[in-house]
Order: sequence, then structure tokens, then C-alpha cells
Amino acid sequence: MIARVLSAALVGVEAALVRVEVDVTAGLPAFTTVGLPDSAVRESRERVRTAIRNAGFAFPVDRITVNLAPADLRKEGASFDLPVKKGAIGPFAVVGELALDGQIQPVRGTLAVGLACRRQGISTLVVPMENAAEALAVDGLQVLAARTLADAVGLLNGDHAAAAVPPARPVEAAAADDLDLGDVRGQAHAKRALEIAAAGAHNLLLVGPPGGGKTMLARRLAAILPPLSSDEVLEVSAIWSVAGLLPRHGELMTRRPFRAPHHTISVSGLIGGGGPPHPGEVTLAHLGVLFLDELPEFQQHVLESLRQPLEDGRVTIARASGVGDFPARFQLVAAANPCRRGCPSLEHCLCTPAERHRYLGRISRPLLDRIDLHVELPALGPADLERRGAGDSSAVVRTRVADARERQRERFRSSGIRVNASITARQVRRHCQPPPEAEQLLAAAMSRLGLSARGHDRVLKVALTIADLAGSDAIRPEHCAEAIQYRGLDRAWRA
Ligand SMILES: Nc1ncnc2c1ncn2[C@@H]1O[C@H](COP(=O)(O)OP(=O)(O)O)[C@@H](O)[C@H]1O
Ligand SMILES: [Mg+2]
Repeated sequence: MIARVLSAALVGVEAALVRVEVDVTAGLPAFTTVGLPDSAVRESRERVRTAIRNAGFAFPVDRITVNLAPADLRKEGASFDLPVKKGAIGPFAVVGELALDGQIQPVRGTLAVGLACRRQGISTLVVPMENAAEALAVDGLQVLAARTLADAVGLLNGDHAAAAVPPARPVEAAAADDLDLGDVRGQAHAKRALEIAAAGAHNLLLVGPPGGGKTMLARRLAAILPPLSSDEVLEVSAIWSVAGLLPRHGELMTRRPFRAPHHTISVSGLIGGGGPPHPGEVTLAHLGVLFLDELPEFQQHVLESLRQPLEDGRVTIARASGVGDFPARFQLVAAANPCRRGCPSLEHCLCTPAERHRYLGRISRPLLDRIDLHVELPALGPADLERRGAGDSSAVVRTRVADARERQRERFRSSGIRVNASITARQVRRHCQPPPEAEQLLAAAMSRLGLSARGHDRVLKVALTIADLAGSDAIRPEHCAEAIQYRGLDRAWRA
């Protein structure tokens, strides 16, 4: 007798459907699995045998062969337990981990499995009760939630109706809204840069003495970005589900992620790694913000590992145990003190100019090249902190950002690009045509700041975003002039 059922394996942050074929023939009792299973899958044999008996079913005393196909797909984890037992036929897929007593435990990545089912026209998915809300987020998918093995069998045989499960609730936005841009006093220049960064998805570097509000500002970026679309909510939630970070009671990630790893993080923690490869911080920050506070304190090779994701919006991790390809389209915000000692201001700095230069020099030129906006924050005096009327709230800024994004969406409609930060050199030629007066400004800045051709393009992209924020169809000289101000560190680099 041969039986087939569909399940899924996680590949990177997506799920691939796997055919589980169970063949039971007369012969010496044996239970083998074939098709490249990892040890956790192999160990599931004992668990399956025990769980089936404890759930009140008979376990066949025959020769049992379980084949997991396609064979060249690496399959990990315990989420094959349930399909290994069912071995039935039908247009559905099954995931879950069997406990010894026949209970079904939750698994990682159920949302990704649901999305894979939708892609491949599988209409029904049997899941552990705890993962049901997450799976229900996939439009048009019939979700059968089972608490026990007997439950799952009953559902599939149509013996009893599925329990009603409330669909996933959006994660409350409260926490982000608690952090309002209006709380930040002074620092108008830095706030303006934050708004430009949000509007054009530009990477941003904040440099200033301790206690000036760099961390405060960075933490407020996510709240002024446009909300995720419903497809993006699923995209981000699927990643968090695979990483096992989605809350159990079925909440989706409706807010843009904000990740702030500590400067002691390793390369594999930041970009992903391990065997099989797991997603790193850059992937958890996908479609959100990656905040690297105290940038020069990160290990140099860790910072260099950011280049590929910054360039491609993805990371590829090759390990003996397999290759992981993860999405990593995040917006980078970095902060740095101007010196290692963290002196309160330039006048009161105990470091020599050479020491200061060496400290910021830890941020390599190629990394700096990928950061469109540099901002130097002044030290704040007590009077600055007491001043009221700090400027616009996050909600007001968010509206302007959304309008600027809408202009970009219109402009790039047919090109697949969404934001100014990601346009190519050729598109810069096409979309950024500053008037002669602005060209002169740019030429002067190029020689004064020692800007490269790439630096020149970056200024133009930022000028385009500034024009979008101003509701202007063309880049005007004042837009260029403002954009040039955000190249402060190019000058420092020349010194
Ligand atoms: N511009 C500011 N407006 C209001 N409070 C500020 C400002 N800058 C700093 N603070 C106060 O000082 C604390 C430290 O600021 P922080 O953002 O951590 O500074 P930095 O990261 O530049 O060292 C904040 O929690 C806040 O209470
Ligand atoms: Mg700080």
C-alpha cells in the first residue's frame, strides 16, 4: 500500500512543498526514511511510532518506507511528523510536530507554508492549533487546526467540523507611536535629514556628541515611514514566522521592523549563517530599519559584510549544509560619536584631530559610499532642552513622506523601482536633470568635497527626494544646495 501527502520544508525564509510517500509492504518490520532527511527527521520515527500508539491507533507491523521528495531539497526539523503519520491522499498539506502523547505541537514558518500552498494551488492546510491564526492570514486558504493526532484524522475524514479560530490580529502600533518626533528638541537639521531619508529610503549616518539625540532620532524613523501594504505585511510576517519570532497567539507584523543589534554582533548574527543557514538581522529588518548605534565600535569585517545586502537587497549565505538566499531590503541608520572617548563637544574634546580621524575612519569608504545622508549634530545646551515647540509630530511628517513616496511611485511606475534611493546611474541621468545653475553648484561642490562620480549621483538622488518633498517636478538649485550639505563626511575623509 502506498499513500501520499504534502508537507513543506523551509528553504531560507520561504517554504517548499514536499511530497511525503509512505509505502507499507509485508516483510520484516522496519521503518526507514529516504530523501535526505536530517537527524531530527530521522529521529521522528520513534516519536511517530509512540504517538500513534498513544493516540489509540494501531501501528502496522510491516515494512514501512517513507520517501521525502524532491530528494535534492534539504529537509530539516520535526515538522514532518504529522504528514509522516497521515499518509493519505488529497489536495491538502499538513504540518505539525507530534508529541509522544499524540498532541500536536506548533512549528516555525506556518505562514510561509501557507503562502507556498497558495502559490501552488493547494487549497487546504492542516496546522497545529497554535499556528492556525497565522495560517489564516493567507487569503483563500482553508485552514484546519488540530490539537491532537486523533483531531487531525477526524478533520481529514470529515468526522468532525474544524474548530473556529479567530484570524491573526495586527500587532498593536502603540509602541511605535509612543516615540514621537515632536519629543526631540532642537536638532532641526537632523530632523530634516530624517524626513528626507524616510521620503526617499536613503541610508543615513548621524554623527554627534553623546546625549544629543542620535539614538532618539533613529528610533523615530520607523514611525514616519509609510505603512506596509497588505502583501508586505505577509512578506515580513513570513520571515518572522520562519525565524520563530512571531508571537504564538497569532499576531502579524503590520509595523515596519526596527532592528538595533549591539555592536558586539557577529557576521552570522548580522547577515545570517549557521547550518542550515538562518536569517540574520539584515533579513529581520527587511522592509524596515536596521539601526547600527555606535557604528565605529562594530568589528570591521562585520561592517564589511553589509556591502552585499546594501547593494542587492538580498544576502546569499553559502555553507556546507546548504545555501541560503534571504531578502534584506532594509534602510540603514547609523550613529557615531565623533571620537572614541565620547567627549561632550568639539571644543571640549580631549582627543587629537588624528585620533578623531582614525575613529571615524573605521567606517570604510565603501560603506560610507552607500550612505546618502551624513548629518553632524551639535551638542545641546540646557536651554535647547527646555525650549518648547519642538517641531512637527510624527503624524505630520508621515503625511509629507507619504506624499513624496506617491510622487516616486508615479515616476517609476513601469520600472519596478519604488524609491529614489534605488535608482541606477542611468536612471539618475534620466530623472535628475538639474538646471545649469544647479550644475554649477554641483561642480563646485565636487571639487571642494572631492566628490567622486558616485558621490555626484548620490547628491542628485537626494536632491530629487528634496524636490519630491517640495512637490516640485524639477530639481531646483536650492534642492541641490541642500543635498550637498549632507556630504559632510566626504570632506572629513579628505582631511
Ligand atoms: N534633542 C533632544 N531632545 C530631547 N531630549 C533629548 C535630546 N537629545 C538628548 N535628549 C535626552 O538625552 C537622552 C539621551 O539621548 P540619546 O538619543 O541617547 O543621545 P545620543 O544617542 O546622541 O547619545 C535621551 O533619552 C533624552 O532624554
Ligand atoms: Mg546613542
